[in-house]
Amino acid sequence: MKAAITATGRYFPAREVPNSYFYDDLGLDTNDEWIVSRTGIETRRLADPSKGETCSFMATQAARACLADAGLEAGDLDAIVVATVTPDQPLPSVACFTQAALGAKGFAFDLVAACSGFVYGLDVCAAMVESGRAKRVMFIGADHMSSILDFADRNTCILFGDAAGAVLIEQVPDDHPGTIHRSLLRADGTGAKHLQIPAGGGRLPIDEGILAERMHKVKQEGRVVFRHAVSSIVKVVRQYFEEEQLDVEDVALFIPHQANRRIIEAAADRLRVPRDKTVITIDRFANTTAASIPTALDLAREEGRVKVGDRLLFATFGAGFTWGAQTITWGV
Ligand code: UT7
Repeated sequence: MKAAITATGRYFPAREVPNSYFYDDLGLDTNDEWIVSRTGIETRRLADPSKGETCSFMATQAARACLADAGLEAGDLDAIVVATVTPDQPLPSVACFTQAALGAKGFAFDLVAACSGFVYGLDVCAAMVESGRAKRVMFIGADHMSSILDFADRNTCILFGDAAGAVLIEQVPDDHPGTIHRSLLRADGTGAKHLQIPAGGGRLPIDEGILAERMHKVKQEGRVVFRHAVSSIVKVVRQYFEEEQLDVEDVALFIPHQANRRIIEAAADRLRVPRDKTVITIDRFANTTAASIPTALDLAREEGRVKVGDRLLFATFGAGFTWGAQTITWGV
C-alpha cells in the first residue's frame, strides 16, 4: 500500500505587517535595508487573537481549504495530525481543537519538531497510511509564532510570521502516479540551547522573574543556527540523493523551509538547484515554522508550478536541532 498527497490548503491571517512596523510602530533599532538584505523578508502576516485567530483557527481554515480541494467532508478523515510549537494552550492539542471545529471524527494529536515539523510529520503520517492504520489523514503544519515572539528583541521578532498549511495524505493504488517517498530525518539535541524558549515548562515554570526576563519567549543565536542550517541541509540532501539514487535533474521543484533567503540560496547553489526550480515565499510571509513548506507547496500549485509526475524535494532545518530531506511525486 502506498501513500500520496492528494490535496492541499493554506491559511494566512489578513493582517499584513511590513518591515516598517518594527521601527516605525515598535521603535526598534532596525531598518528595511537590514531586514531585506540579511533575511529576504519584506512583509509577513500576523494573527489577530482578538479575532479568534489562534493556531487551531488557522489549522482549521487550512484544513477546510484542503477538504474543498479534495472534494471531501470532515467526516471522511480517519485522523488529524498537527505539527506545531505554538498551541492555543498547553493542553489539549491543536489537533483536538481542530477536529472539533471541523466536526471530524477519528484520532487527533500534535507533533513537535519546530521548523522540521512538516517533514517529520509527513513521514509519520505516510507511515500510518502505508501500514493501513489510517486511510485518510489531514496533516497540518500550523504556527502562531507571534504568540511566542519577544517584540522587544530585534534579533528574532522580525523573522517570523503566522500561517497554516494542510495536506491530505491518502492510501492510493500502486499504479497511482503520486507517492510519498521515504525521508531522511536527523536530530542533534546538543543544539537545543541555540534556539529555544527557555521557560514555561517543568524546568522553569513561569513566575514574575521569568516574565521580567522574557524567558518565556523565543531566544536564538542566529549566526550559529545559520551556519548549521546551510551545512546540514546540503549534507542531508546529498546523502538522500545518494541513497535514493537521485540526481538534481530529477527534481522538478525544491521546496525548502523558509527561514532565511540567504540560507535557501546558499543551499540551492551548493546543491546546484537552479533558482527557477526553487520555491521562495519568505519575502511575503517570513518564517512560518511548520507551515512554511505546506503553504509554499499550496502556493506553488496555485501558480501552476506543480504537475503530475513531478518529483518535489522538501528540506528543512530547525530547533532541536532537527533537520531532514524528503521527496514526493505529485499525482493529482
Ligand atoms: O527556522 C528556524 C531556524 N532559524 C534560522 O535558520 C535562522 C538562522 N539565522 C539567520 O537567519 C541569521 O543569523 C539572522 C537573520 C538571524 C541574523 O543574520 P546575521 O547575518 O547572522 O546577523 P548577526 O546575527 O551576525 O548580526 C549582525 C549584526 C549584529 O550587530 P553587531 O553585533 O555586529 O554589532 C546584530 O546585533 O546585526 C545586528 N542585528 C540587527 N540589526 C538591525 C540583529 N538583528 C538586527 C535587526 N536589525 N533586526
